Amino acid sequence: MRVLITGGASGQLKYELTRTCPEGVELCAESGARLDITDSAAVNQTVGNAKPDVIINAAAYTAVDKAESDSEQAFAVNDTGVKHLCDAAAEHGCHLIHVSTDFVFGPGDGTPFLPSAATAPLSVYGQSKLNGEQHIQSLLPDAGLVVRTAWVYSSFGHNFVKSMLKLMSERDSLGIVADQVGSPTWANSLARALWIAAEKRSCGLMHWTGAGVASWYDFAVAIYSQGRALSLLTNTVDIKPIRSEQYPTPATRPPFSVMDMTSTVESLDHFPAHWQHDLEQMLRELR
Ligand SMILES: NC(=O)c1ccc[n+]([C@@H]2O[C@H](COP(=O)([O-])OP(=O)(O)OC[C@H]3O[C@@H](n4cnc5c(N)ncnc54)[C@H](OP(=O)(O)O)[C@@H]3O)[C@@H](O)[C@H]2O)c1
Repeated sequence: MRVLITGGASGQLKYELTRTCPEGVELCAESGARLDITDSAAVNQTVGNAKPDVIINAAAYTAVDKAESDSEQAFAVNDTGVKHLCDAAAEHGCHLIHVSTDFVFGPGDGTPFLPSAATAPLSVYGQSKLNGEQHIQSLLPDAGLVVRTAWVYSSFGHNFVKSMLKLMSERDSLGIVADQVGSPTWANSLARALWIAAEKRSCGLMHWTGAGVASWYDFAVAIYSQGRALSLLTNTVDIKPIRSEQYPTPATRPPFSVMDMTSTVESLDHFPAHWQHDLEQMLRELR
């Protein structure tokens, strides 16, 4: 299987996909460069040259708050850019795996979202990602897969875990949002699931996160206690739960973004580890 991975040098998922690449998979040389997915001619030419069996799209505009005032660029990457990949995949006969987000959902009713649940994005980022999903569904019904994930972190790149470790090493108290609940996801776990989906040429819609749920506050407390146990943190920090309105952000976050993975687990025959287990694996890499 020849695979083209999109995304740039700083991408956490691209990093984890590259280092978990299974034996027998040939990464196209073009994966090493940053193919600008907003450039339709470049996308078509690169896919035509690389001739991959599968494209995994790890490129995205992920600045959730900035997207509220920079919607043109968010849509250029997450909406139009995905269409360019669909068009190229269709023309050159490739399978396309695309990664999306819990932000396509609205407030929900407090039960985990099924892949078939109604979408209702609360933010520009969420709407741009939903538009990207819709291109896969309409243009590649038999050769496209959307995998929604949430709260992604890795030892590489920028994410909540690394921001928390930095803040916890600098401050003696922190207030962390406790009324938003989701499932922290190690990008390494997501990458391994995507490789299984690529081997199976899975189609349709899937959900993949770490198992279990947490509020951002729970997540921060776990980062703190595991960080201290692994000697990544030595000082004492008082971590307090706060409400979302005490930490206003330009983009509205879903209060509950837990996604049901039952159908994905059955289809991939692969189960995610609990998020606390994966967090420890990731933190060990930082020692
Ligand atoms: N991070 C999360 O918490 C989270 C949550 C839910 C879903 N997701 C989804 O998971 C996927 C992977 O996210 P991630 O965490 O790996 O994001 P990330 O670390 O922010 O990486 C995004 C990558 O996209 C690249 N990129 C941006 N614009 C591009 C363009 N026009 N053409 C080509 N590449 C472009 C960036 O390039 P540079 O390296 O050059 O900047 C970067 O490498 C995305 O689809 C994201 O929407 C992420």
